[in-house]
Amino acid sequence: MIDLRALPKAELHLHLEGTLEPEMMFDLAARNGVRLPFPDIAAARNAYVFDNLQSFLDIYYAGCSVLLQSQDFADLTHAYLQRARADGVRHVEVFFDPQTHTDRGVPFAAVVDGIVHALDDARRDLGITSRLILCFLRHLSPEAAMATLETALAYRSDIVGVGLDSSEAGHPPSKFTEVFDRARAEGFVTVAHAGEEGPPAYIVEALDLLHVQRVDHGVRCLEDPALVERLVADQVPLTVCPLSNVMLRVVPTLADHPLRRMLELGLNVSVHSDDPAYFGGYLGKNLAATASALGLSDDQIVQLARNSFRSSFLAPVERDSHLTEIEAVVARGPG
Ligand code: ADE
Ligand code: ZN
Repeated sequence: MIDLRALPKAELHLHLEGTLEPEMMFDLAARNGVRLPFPDIAAARNAYVFDNLQSFLDIYYAGCSVLLQSQDFADLTHAYLQRARADGVRHVEVFFDPQTHTDRGVPFAAVVDGIVHALDDARRDLGITSRLILCFLRHLSPEAAMATLETALAYRSDIVGVGLDSSEAGHPPSKFTEVFDRARAEGFVTVAHAGEEGPPAYIVEALDLLHVQRVDHGVRCLEDPALVERLVADQVPLTVCPLSNVMLRVVPTLADHPLRRMLELGLNVSVHSDDPAYFGGYLGKNLAATASALGLSDDQIVQLARNSFRSSFLAPVERDSHLTEIEAVVARGPG
């Protein structure tokens, strides 16, 4: 099998708050004097059994309560980037959920400054390039999202795009048409979670109303053959997160995951890790476990790596240099 670690990869679907390992959660709780709903680290890990997206989000937002100071966000981001480096990740496009923090009284500036500080360090020290994407919480109102966008305008040089996450069912993309219109007018790129728990119609709305350049998850597109045809024709990027899909019961087991079928249909899929501290693994583990469970060929694994850069917001010259490096790893043969 191809050497997965040596294969250049881009991480395009990762929530920074979802990289909060229980060890750091308890360290930050002690540092900031925050009480957690778990007595210890083992109890926290044991609670990571989910019935659906909402049961995960309840625990994920509780964990976020320890993030208060700019340094906390820097430490969280720094720890993630060390793990990314160990997996051979060369480029990251990370999500953050500012409303989860500003609604608790944490200044927007503390969140962004901490994250950006760590991303800048990683560019210099680890050679990992990055983009930052602000996600609106779709269970909150479009007015709250618009206010968040207005605050973000002062950080236009730090934040490349906007996305949409949190509880999908009952919160269609159409709720945020105006906010996304404004974001695009301000020059942000746009992405949205759609077709994770929500129906294929939400993917269509994300494309037609929010004009997203990437769909996060998108696995439920398979229920709508006409949509699949469109996604293949337009090569719309779908950022698929296999371990997440199993943990949130979007699919029963990894062996049932439709990733291989999606590749064979010609969809532009790539593999990512979503909330790795909660779902059992980072990008390397997502790729290795999925390749093994589905019997992916080396060609298919390499295609996933190529797709990750094709679907990124890197400038063409940077993207092409990673693609060239992928071909060099392929030419070297199995590791
Ligand atoms: N926020 C963090 N992880 C998420 C996911 N998998 N779906 C929707 N919102 C999220
Ligand atoms: Zn996600």
